[in-house]
Amino acid sequence: MAAQSPNTEPKLAGVIGWPISQSLSPLIHTIWARRADIDGYYIPIPVEPDYDSFAKTVDSLRAVGFAGVNITIPHKEHALRYADVRSHDAQAAGAANMLTFRIEKAFADNSDIYGFYKAMSDKGANGNGRVLVLGAGGAARGVVNALKELDYSDITLVNRSREKADDLAEVFALKSASWEDRNKFIEGSTALINTTSLGMTGQPPLEIDLALLTKEAIVADIVYSPLETPLLKAAREKGCRTVDGLAMLMHQAAPGFETWFGGKAVIDDDLRQNLIAEL
Ligand code: ATR
Repeated sequence: MAAQSPNTEPKLAGVIGWPISQSLSPLIHTIWARRADIDGYYIPIPVEPDYDSFAKTVDSLRAVGFAGVNITIPHKEHALRYADVRSHDAQAAGAANMLTFRIEKAFADNSDIYGFYKAMSDKGANGNGRVLVLGAGGAARGVVNALKELDYSDITLVNRSREKADDLAEVFALKSASWEDRNKFIEGSTALINTTSLGMTGQPPLEIDLALLTKEAIVADIVYSPLETPLLKAAREKGCRTVDGLAMLMHQAAPGFETWFGGKAVIDDDLRQNLIAEL
């Protein structure tokens, strides 16, 4: 039996992207809604990549009573632009993956930062030592914000296009180095984060030498296809703690569910196994 009275409308939310059929978010939210006995729907919404298509769709969703939406590639910057009010994290990341609709206003937030923060702190990340971040795109920007919130102060960025690493390093007062020099920073790092698409199914491999990485280090990869990337496999075999893309995905979903559906978003092994079955 549903938790609400029979007269209450079902709660509505969803995820906007292009493409979107591969998204695991509908499954995550559907499992949480079922567990909490909440009458709600969370649907995938494909929207073409331009801003006008995005804005028109979001206007319609608001008109039919959606509580909010998640936003994924290529609309995260559109969501920030569309919003009336922007959280600190959304502004810091320069992108929003959540829009919440309240009377007359759309609120933008970025729970990717929280998702990475939580997945790292669950594995004991404590801000000590030096971090090496591979990549300098949109995902790296969110990761850097989370690393700052975890109290890391010694962060080095390496990126294929050095200029992008330099730019991001300047904005967040980090160090940058050339992509070719990445192996030189492995020794002495307490955390290594891959934010590039290298190692993802269908993409080139990530070439990196972990020989000098201490087994006390935490290694994270934002990719979840494959679930265990070659980087994470090599790190696990060394005895390092690892953080995979699925852990981040589950944690970034929780704020949206709790805000729009009003139930508790429990992240446990049962949820994880349900998602792995869909990969
Ligand atoms: P996202 O928003 O997911 O971070 P992005 O902004 O396109 O996506 O960034 C992708 C990252 O993967 C970038 O750091 C990119 O390096 P460039 O800035 O030089 O493009 C990195 N990347 C993608 N393909 C790569 C490759 N073959 N070798 C090295 N880095 C690569």
